[in-house]
Amino acid sequence: MGQVQFISPRIGGDWSMSCRNHQPISLLKMARIWNVPLPVHCQKGLCGTCAVRVTPQGKQQQLCLNAFEKQTLQCLGKLPAMLASDGQKPWKGPYWRLACQCIVGSGDQFFVAF
Ligand code: FES
Repeated sequence: MGQVQFISPRIGGDWSMSCRNHQPISLLKMARIWNVPLPVHCQKGLCGTCAVRVTPQGKQQQLCLNAFEKQTLQCLGKLPAMLASDGQKPWKGPYWRLACQCIVGSGDQFFVAF
């Protein structure tokens, strides 16, 4: 079971909510299921509106960026240089991710700040 804790000072002070999923879904879908008001626009990894800071908890996880997410984060200056050439690196975070492209697997645990 994946678990995500959303944290945001942008919506009326510190706010956090823990959400759990049983199947891999995007951070954005998880936020919508739990009524977490993440900013969103294109939902295709192109605009960067849904960029969030993700910190993995527990076991080390792979940072798997698709081409859209990698290009958009690079354009926004939010992709670490070490990841610019290869989006498949051990993931210690925190890193910027696009909520519409970041998949939360059943064993993943994240803190998500926006
Ligand atoms: Fe546009 Fe996620 S909503 S990149």
